[in-house]
Amino acid sequence: MGQYEIIGGSPLRGEIRIHGAKNSVLPILAATLLCESCCVIEDCPYIRDVDTAVEILEHLGCRVQRRGSELTVDSTAANRWEIPPQLMGKMRGAILFLGALLSRFSQARLSQPGGCPLGDRPIDLHLGGLGHMGARCQFRDSVLYCQVDRFCPSTVALPFPSVGATENLLLAALSCPGETVICNAAREPEIADLMGFLRACGAELRGDGSSVLRIRGGKKLRGCRYRLMPDRMEAATYLAAAAATRGELLLKNVRPEHLRAVTNVLQEAGCRIWEGSGELSLHCHSLRGVSPIRTAPYDGFPTDAQAPVMAAMATAEGTTVFEETVFSDRMGHIPALCAMGAKISAAKRCAVVQGVPRLKPARACATDLRGGAALAIAMLAAPGRSILRDAGHICRGYERFDAILRTCGAQIQYTEGL
Ligand code: UD1
Repeated sequence: MGQYEIIGGSPLRGEIRIHGAKNSVLPILAATLLCESCCVIEDCPYIRDVDTAVEILEHLGCRVQRRGSELTVDSTAANRWEIPPQLMGKMRGAILFLGALLSRFSQARLSQPGGCPLGDRPIDLHLGGLGHMGARCQFRDSVLYCQVDRFCPSTVALPFPSVGATENLLLAALSCPGETVICNAAREPEIADLMGFLRACGAELRGDGSSVLRIRGGKKLRGCRYRLMPDRMEAATYLAAAAATRGELLLKNVRPEHLRAVTNVLQEAGCRIWEGSGELSLHCHSLRGVSPIRTAPYDGFPTDAQAPVMAAMATAEGTTVFEETVFSDRMGHIPALCAMGAKISAAKRCAVVQGVPRLKPARACATDLRGGAALAIAMLAAPGRSILRDAGHICRGYERFDAILRTCGAQIQYTEGL
């Protein structure tokens, strides 16, 4: 994997256009399997997780073409329902193909998905829900075999509003003649985006943005042209970077309402935030500690923003407590932040961050996507030369991370293969 060399200490200043959302495009690419024709996805980000999804689609027999920021998927000739472990192992989002394969082929064979090490990441809610709808799923020698004769109209209540499980059940329900109801569904905006795409393909769905989704399946879907919503996590990361470096940033192509949980915290910390139509700006002179930050499903504080915002608060005046309630082990970035001079005492799900006036440069390894972004933010704030190894984690979810930061005055260079 590559590394970033970062010379930190200067404020980020400039304008950034946010790309299409990673967490929307992955389920939408899986959903293209259901259309049996051409779908064009606009504003598709150039990130490694999209490359992996494309590899999976091609393996399944789809034709995929990229032209600039548009990705065209033709799933007419898809003829496989098995995904090999080396592709499944590349990202967690690979599990989103399960519901789509069952819908299209009534069967699927795959293995446990990979992804960031954030603690246990079982798929019991996906399998329980699919089982309730009539699928038979079992593991044999680490291979998951799923089959369904015919999905039955049913009401599935998720014990926890899992984003991935909601998306898989939605995709599976599209082949079920009659109405499927998903209760306690995740309310993340990316799910409404997936529903928007499916509706554009002719699906009958209701409940976007709520915790009860109603799907009237059994209709043949057609291809469509669809523009992805902007990536709220990419936006949150750049906002945290601007705060950590006491900078000034204008974000274009954002939905400010999706970012409120993060911007409320940054505002409480002393940043000036301005919201426009599709735009958001942040101006930061100084940062102070804020009331405890507790991650939660939407519209709570997003777990994906926990590490980037922690990196910023490590430089604030005063103390901030973080509690991670969504994942069991998502504090992997803390040892490296401490090596940079941050004062953080942490247990598995809780961290007390006592801000310091200045972080110091260091050599560190990214352990996961958002944790890696958090370390890059700390390095941008720390005056001097830092090296961030295993930076490939960041390329999984951020398009041209270094080039974009350079346009805002950061000194950051990526080198492949070190
Ligand atoms: C998605 C996002 C990820 C984000 C997360 C939470 C994508 C591609 N990824 O991940 O960026 O951090 O939502 O907002 O959209 N769980 C179970 N059993 C299951 C499924 C989940 O116990 O079957 C647990 C997980 O271990 C985790 C929690 O539920 O502790 C949340 O997981 P989930 O909402 O499913 O996240 P993902 O869909 O994996």
